[in-house]
Amino acid sequence: MKENFIKREEKVSKTSLNHYLRQFEGRPYYYGNASHAFFDIMEWLQKNRPKKKPNIIMPVYIPAKLYRFVLAAGYEPKFYDVSTDLNIDLKEISSLIDDQTQAVFAVHFFGVPVDLQPLKNITESAGIYLIEDCAHSMNAYYKDRLLGSTGDCTLFSTRKMLQLHCGGVLILNSEPWDFKPSWNERVRSLFTMYHFAGSRVKNKVNNFLKATNPFKLSEIPYDGYIDFSEEHVVRVKKMDFFSSWYNNIPDLDKMADNRRENFLHLLNGINNLDSFHPIGIERYAKKEKTNQYTLDTGFVPFSMPILTPPGTRNQVQQALCKAGVLCFVGWPEAPFGLKGFKGADVLKDRLLELPVHSFMDSHQLNIIVDCLNSLSANVNESRKESFVSI
Ligand SMILES: Cc1ncc(COP(=O)(O)O)c(C=O)c1O
Repeated sequence: MKENFIKREEKVSKTSLNHYLRQFEGRPYYYGNASHAFFDIMEWLQKNRPKKKPNIIMPVYIPAKLYRFVLAAGYEPKFYDVSTDLNIDLKEISSLIDDQTQAVFAVHFFGVPVDLQPLKNITESAGIYLIEDCAHSMNAYYKDRLLGSTGDCTLFSTRKMLQLHCGGVLILNSEPWDFKPSWNERVRSLFTMYHFAGSRVKNKVNNFLKATNPFKLSEIPYDGYIDFSEEHVVRVKKMDFFSSWYNNIPDLDKMADNRRENFLHLLNGINNLDSFHPIGIERYAKKEKTNQYTLDTGFVPFSMPILTPPGTRNQVQQALCKAGVLCFVGWPEAPFGLKGFKGADVLKDRLLELPVHSFMDSHQLNIIVDCLNSLSANVNESRKESFVSI
């Protein structure tokens, strides 16, 4: 993937975050996290183009945190559904646009790319802003376009992709009015260094102990549901000095290769991909004559989202966590009690994220493969609804 990657610059020995960000038209701003940047953009749009009752059109399958930031910015969220292959419906989005719409928000969920050019044509002709959410993608491209280069602005979550406690970047590809971040404080470096050290030690110990889990590192202490309606006071912060320095240490090409390798390990190891269906696979992978999958150039996964058989997701998650592999389930709080969102209703109950980040070693990847292969042998073939036993 490296040959095609750097498009406007000379090939460099290491693709640091700075090198990567320099490829975008727009200027980068470094925030405490991506949500802070999102809040700032909403405030900026409203300040420069005031609407009586501003709204933002966004997917209903999102973390509660983003919903809260929209409410805190004084916007009404107008939700569109997300299909079970994590794609968008242009007609549905178009029908939601009205004279109070400030922006459309679109997400490349878990790194699965969406072609945003047709949506950009719609937002451009409506004269509204397209916010591209790349919180789950970095150093990735799709159909020869860098992900993050289509939106009028783009959010990156460096903390999520580079596994830090803090960090988000805003790229402003189009700036119809002068933009100035609203932060007046920074995240504290001591705080992020403490969490950085803690997570590295935890992962080293887990790898050293072969995920035997004596300290319950892979157990999820809560049920994953987050209340979106809690009042949220936003204090927009600038990225701390430690993360700003550290962000440029990882080689993003290596990070991408590593995530792709781990992803392929799972994709080619899990036997029953009908029962554990990799979501959106047609947009990033091909099956070769050898029956092995290859990944499209430019695809950089955040995790591997799969659709589990109905009624089994929580059992599978628990089995994996018990075996020592921490895995999450997207956003079970979505669609926030709202009715009529068929896709999100399925995703909230059945989506499972298999981890492919750089702390995963082959031992842990094999735990996932073995676990899913033994579970799929137990899928109740007659009903395909639950596992007979785990
Ligand atoms: C799809 C998506 N967008 C945006 C965000 C916000 O990122 P951050 O946690 O850096 O604020 C998240 C965080 O979970 C996310 O999952």
